[in-house]
Amino acid sequence: MIGQTLFPIGEIKRNSLGSGVGKHAVACADNLEFMAKFPDQSFQLIVTSPPYNIGKEYERRDSLTCYLETQERVISHCVRLLKPAGSICWQVGNHITIDGEVVPLDIMFHPIFKKLGMKLRNRIIWHFEHGLHCTRRFSGRYETILWFTKSDQFVFDVDPIRIPPKYPGKKYFKGPKAGMFSCNPLGKNPGDVWVIPNVKANHVEKTIHPCQFPVELVERLVLSMTRAGDGVFDPYMGVGSAVIAAIKNNRDGYGCDIEEKYVKIARARIADYRTGVLQTRPMERPVYDPTLPNGGHR
Ligand SMILES: C[S@@+](CC[C@H](N)C(=O)[O-])C[C@H]1O[C@@H](n2cnc3c(N)ncnc32)[C@H](O)[C@@H]1O
Repeated sequence: MIGQTLFPIGEIKRNSLGSGVGKHAVACADNLEFMAKFPDQSFQLIVTSPPYNIGKEYERRDSLTCYLETQERVISHCVRLLKPAGSICWQVGNHITIDGEVVPLDIMFHPIFKKLGMKLRNRIIWHFEHGLHCTRRFSGRYETILWFTKSDQFVFDVDPIRIPPKYPGKKYFKGPKAGMFSCNPLGKNPGDVWVIPNVKANHVEKTIHPCQFPVELVERLVLSMTRAGDGVFDPYMGVGSAVIAAIKNNRDGYGCDIEEKYVKIARARIADYRTGVLQTRPMERPVYDPTLPNGGHR
């Protein structure tokens, strides 16, 4: 079924930047319909940010119980589509009730994944600086990524996503390794608190979508949890950020979204990526620091 006209796969070709060679297939479709067309164990990584049931332009506010029942149906299909050594990353924030109570969605999602036999490997905190200024509680400046695997034999390689060490020249001062560098020459494990700017007005990736993933956030997951040629799927694709993160890193990207206007933008962004004109924020760029000349950017 892969490659049929309903979900045509993008031509395999190298873009002018010379890096991405992954294929892609995106569709304007309800995710349950889209997923029903794929056989079991189709994807190595399923990464998404579902609606939070807070009344954004692309969602209808439902009771929390109904919302979680729908999410469980979607997640059980995702588990079916996952390869045995694969990962699911569910990126969520808070649901806010009508009377203003905060419900952290990762707490609600954890029992659903456990019931489906998935194992939690990390609860990653994604910290960012921009967002609504709250007046009756502290402003929300983080969301989480729940990383689950299907089994204990899972793909994980931290080397492609290592970050510069804090003290690069530091050496052991005694013992058998005295004089040798104490840090890994490839850099350090980025840990489970990720400081990555969210996509707001001045972000180079901003489109009309109100809640885009920064591509660099998904790239970290793609590079550490998949190998070249693997399939990456986003069941709530929005404007295609996860698909772009996949093809940019030589993986195949799949995605669907129910809103035509977002799918059109996703297709345009993928086309721009393939011709080398899409701008994305590079993974290695430091977060802007107003106290440094040029914000600390070169
Ligand atoms: C939080 S946004 C995801 C944005 C995405 N991460 C990006 O970078 O653009 C959730 C998306 O889910 C889509 N959506 C809602 N219900 C859906 C469904 N049943 N099937 C597919 N997409 C759906 C919405 O249109 C919205 O674009």
